Amino acid sequence: MVIGVPKEIKDKEFRVSATPVQAYGFVAAGHKVLVEKNAGIGAGFPDSEYAAAGAEIVDSADTVWAKADMIYKVKEPLEAEYPRMREGQVVFTYFHLAPAPELTQACLKSKATCIAFETIEKGRTLPLLAPMSEIAGRMSIICGAYFSQIHAGGTGTLPGGVPGVAPGNVLIVGGGIVGTNAAKMAVGLRANVAITDIDLDRLRYLDDIFGGTVKTIASSPAAIADYAAQADILVGSVLIKGAKAPQLVTEDIVKTMKKGAVIVDVAIDQGGAVETSHVTYHTDPVFMKHGVCHYCVGNMPGAYARTSSQALANATFPYAMKLVNMGWKKALASDPGFLMGLNAHDGKLTCAPVGKDQNIPCVAPESVL
Ligand SMILES: NC(=O)c1ccc[n+]([C@@H]2O[C@H](COP(=O)([O-])OP(=O)(O)OC[C@H]3O[C@@H](n4cnc5c(N)ncnc54)[C@H](O)[C@@H]3O)[C@@H](O)[C@H]2O)c1
Repeated sequence: MVIGVPKEIKDKEFRVSATPVQAYGFVAAGHKVLVEKNAGIGAGFPDSEYAAAGAEIVDSADTVWAKADMIYKVKEPLEAEYPRMREGQVVFTYFHLAPAPELTQACLKSKATCIAFETIEKGRTLPLLAPMSEIAGRMSIICGAYFSQIHAGGTGTLPGGVPGVAPGNVLIVGGGIVGTNAAKMAVGLRANVAITDIDLDRLRYLDDIFGGTVKTIASSPAAIADYAAQADILVGSVLIKGAKAPQLVTEDIVKTMKKGAVIVDVAIDQGGAVETSHVTYHTDPVFMKHGVCHYCVGNMPGAYARTSSQALANATFPYAMKLVNMGWKKALASDPGFLMGLNAHDGKLTCAPVGKDQNIPCVAPESVL
């Protein structure tokens, strides 16, 4: 099989899907790897390391896409990439189709086999979303703390306070992987942390692991409104698998927040958990609305490209190997959790939540195997 590793083209996106370690793994298994020139440079992996691993360095993205049986990348295809997807090709990457009708249509039109990292399941977990959620969760507090500085427009409250001065308040809406990692960082900074979730078992787990250093709150509109009004940093981290995020923090709630409070809406890649959010980019990551700073970068982990590329490849590579060693049909048929990653094939949508959100007919993924 020919595996193509294109250079990411999203704004300030420096991650790469395969490091030289994974390139070597594919080559050792008898596959051919085409790496677009400088694809790994932003993550600290020069072409020479890929070449030493046995990959072929290719000058143009068009050639990589045209020659590859499987495109292995990081971010969802962007407009320039839509015409490069084609029938008979597997595209294995993040897609986040639910809030992106244009991309959904492009995938269907291309007839490519689109397998999305973020909807692959293992038990109750999303193993290919988890490493990026860990990074984005940890980053959310770094970003929130940075934009809390007075010169950055923040409240001027040091998250951890100092002896004699109370710490800042952090509200985390959604206590999954992002939320838990945000909490770890916020607790580490000694902030006053509250987490809301609708899953009481999850709140029990968080109560246990944090040993009383975070408040766990059953999610309700009233509770979110209450805690948001006190928050210096609010992290949006809810997820309903494959679907658009519920906008739990309404515009009316944002209006009640402190001037200079920071919202880090990590869930923006699924449309955002905050009504006033819209996607931003690393180049200009924040905007003010009702006196509240909104940080809504859809590809946060791209900022720590080296750690993120390694963490992502660790998680995606075993699945990528199955796809190229077994062929996508057998690989997906062998693992019902992997099958959940199939979002589109041969012009048919196979991800029910996307069909529901965009009012598009959808078929069961097993029906196309
Ligand atoms: N912006 C980025 O760069 C970036 C990076 C990684 C992940 N993400 C996104 O962050 C979001 C969270 O990811 P995750 O891995 O933590 O998901 P997760 O499934 O681990 O956690 C989501 C949590 O939200 C909770 N939830 C669902 N509905 C809720 C409600 N009404 N009220 C309160 N809680 C509710 C769930 O019970 C769950 O605990 C996803 O949208 C993911 O795509 C964004």
